[in-house]
Amino acid sequence: MAWDKKDLLGLEYLSAEEILTVLDTARAFSEVSTRAIKKVPALRGKTVVNLFYEASTRTRASFELAEKRLSADIINMNVSTSSVTKGETLLDTVRNLCAYKIDVIVIRHAMSGAPIYLARNIECSVVNAGDGMHEHPTQALLDIYTLREKLGDLRGRRIVIVGDIAHSRVARSNIWGLTKLGAQVTVVGPSTLIPREIEQMGVRVQHNLDEALRDADAVNMLRIQREREKLTLFPSLREYAILFGLNRTRMQGLPDKLIVMHPGPINRGVELSGSVADGPNSVILEQVTNSLAVRMAVLFLVTGGTSLHPEHMSA
Ligand code: CP
Repeated sequence: MAWDKKDLLGLEYLSAEEILTVLDTARAFSEVSTRAIKKVPALRGKTVVNLFYEASTRTRASFELAEKRLSADIINMNVSTSSVTKGETLLDTVRNLCAYKIDVIVIRHAMSGAPIYLARNIECSVVNAGDGMHEHPTQALLDIYTLREKLGDLRGRRIVIVGDIAHSRVARSNIWGLTKLGAQVTVVGPSTLIPREIEQMGVRVQHNLDEALRDADAVNMLRIQREREKLTLFPSLREYAILFGLNRTRMQGLPDKLIVMHPGPINRGVELSGSVADGPNSVILEQVTNSLAVRMAVLFLVTGGTSLHPEHMSA
């Protein structure tokens, strides 16, 4: 088992072997959710603090549930009612929490690099739950886990990522992870949403969605970040939906087995029509289910878990 890191900061910093270690550990943990009593003692005696400076539904809920299923003690910090509102700095906030001898901070922050900055300055483990436009490593790990469950070995598989590549931490983490595992990644979107240097990450760029999807195994449809609409990076949501959205009509010309993914939250009618989001090709809710096992694996590994023994998994 390849893992000796105290933190999970991004897939840029993991080797293919380390990514596979997370995925294999997650597969072992996935069985826990099928039990009548969905709890194992793997993190008994460990304390995890969830510190979310940005909104979240899926990531926050799934980290909390993963921690509970591992029997960790947890604190959910409510940033809006914490001393952050009195001007306390991020590092002071976290150093004070660490003074309770906690083991892991799970952090989401609008500032790219915030988890890296913390990891260099505190002893406890830091897990990046999304930092600015940098990385969302556990989202990419759960996306890749879901793809491997469907496709097996990803070497040579054709994965298309569509949307706002420029601002997307999900895209960045997926690109790092998928290319390390040997997948062929194509990014698609309006030229204003595709960074010029993206090809240096080992991906192809396409602006025609139908062409890009013609021989694809899977497509990951990114959320159009409506909070950035004011930047007018494309003419209108309606035009975006016509050119880059997946709907029933477009699906008719695509491979029957095309896997449709979305990290959530979905803008229905923009990047995905309701019929595709809820249709037979969609694995969106499987991604959510798989997120639990993946986050259990990450928490287990960063707290020093090396290999899973029966005592970690006992009822
Ligand atoms: N995919 C994702 O990060 O969703 P949330 O923002 O709801 O956590």
